[in-house]
Amino acid sequence: MSRNIRWLIVLSLVSIALVALAACAAPTAAPAPTSPPAAPPAAAGGKLEMFSWWTAGGEADGLNAMYAIYKKKYPTVDVVNATVAGGAGTNAKAVLATRLTGGDPPDAFQLHAGLEVEKYEPTKYLQPLDSIYTSEGLDKVFPKDLLSLLKYQDHYWGMPVNIHRANVLWYNQKVFADNNLKAPTTWDEFFKAADALKAKGIIPLVVGTKEGWEAGHTFETVLIGTLGADGYKGLWTGKTQWTDPKVTDALNTFKKMMTYANTDNSALTWDGAAQYLVDGKGAMHIMGDWTDGWFISKNYKGYGWAPVPGTTGIFDALTDSFAAAKGAKNQDNLNNWLKLAGSKEGQEAFNPKKGSICARTDCDPKLFDDYLQSAMKDWSANAIVPSVVHGAAAVEKWATVYKDILNTFATKGDVAATQKALQQACVDNGVCK
Ligand code: GAL
Repeated sequence: MSRNIRWLIVLSLVSIALVALAACAAPTAAPAPTSPPAAPPAAAGGKLEMFSWWTAGGEADGLNAMYAIYKKKYPTVDVVNATVAGGAGTNAKAVLATRLTGGDPPDAFQLHAGLEVEKYEPTKYLQPLDSIYTSEGLDKVFPKDLLSLLKYQDHYWGMPVNIHRANVLWYNQKVFADNNLKAPTTWDEFFKAADALKAKGIIPLVVGTKEGWEAGHTFETVLIGTLGADGYKGLWTGKTQWTDPKVTDALNTFKKMMTYANTDNSALTWDGAAQYLVDGKGAMHIMGDWTDGWFISKNYKGYGWAPVPGTTGIFDALTDSFAAAKGAKNQDNLNNWLKLAGSKEGQEAFNPKKGSICARTDCDPKLFDDYLQSAMKDWSANAIVPSVVHGAAAVEKWATVYKDILNTFATKGDVAATQKALQQACVDNGVCK
């Protein structure tokens, strides 16, 4: 299947969810603005405030690489790096929403492509970026279906900078080699390897659940590995019921996985957990490929990677973009930032450090490490499914409830209650009956 068709499937999923959303929520947005911001003159002085949650190694390095280019081009602009730490935007999104509704927006901010934009009532709080897409010829350099994914209520609201993969199993190569293990491709192999590692006093699976989203992230990959690409996508459109016995299997698998996890997981963030791999005390970690950027920032090279068991041939995708706030205080500087973010130069500087591949199709693969080159190949050959924890598959309201349910499940382990709550969340969002 071509990439276009695969993204179209993702898109139809997005459209169905939007229809469902419209059916259960009264519209609050003001009419769409008709004139996007005019093309700016070259910036002179002033500030650029850019808001994100990129504070960890790798993600902060990628952002800094792009800032460095910006500062070179516009040396008189004061770049304000506004960050609120917390993976997946756990804390940042709430702060951002308060700033937008309170009339004190940053100029630009991090936004996942897909249904996440609905949270920010774009016609009320964001600027459409259509004119920049046109002036920079971006319709020719982003995959068509990514463009459609970015389009909401007929406008582009975000400048995409990357493509991330969520379903990666990272492992310590030396620990695996010392124990004659290969990267597991099935859950049976995973648990066999986990038993062997446990017997040697090595933590089989390192997990951080401190920020409340990590269990949901891990579980979405288990769902994909258990239901397959179509079955998983159907969960967000109502084609697959959350009462499906395969969802029960996935919950049981996740529950069993947690019995092999580090006991201090509730005190650790995703990168805190990944440190166990670097130290050789832990063997496997399921996390998105920002972990590649983090490993690079630690100068750690002893890691291997594989798709999460059961997900070979499936790419669980998400895209970071930058949105422009309506009422931004530094419009010219903002427009120049967005242009840089969409450019080849900007994306080639950002992504090799960030641990992601370009949203553009014309980046030079030679600038990227082995892992990222493998991700590029998989991106163009695999079935693409949208990540729920990272904004692509469902509206924020539903994604948040999903995350909270899984976070509770990680400690309580009640399969029946969890499955019931997941089904109810689907009903509450107008997708399941
Ligand atoms: C994701 C985001 C990534 C990375 C990750 C961990 O939601 O898309 O770029 O930052 O969170 O913080």
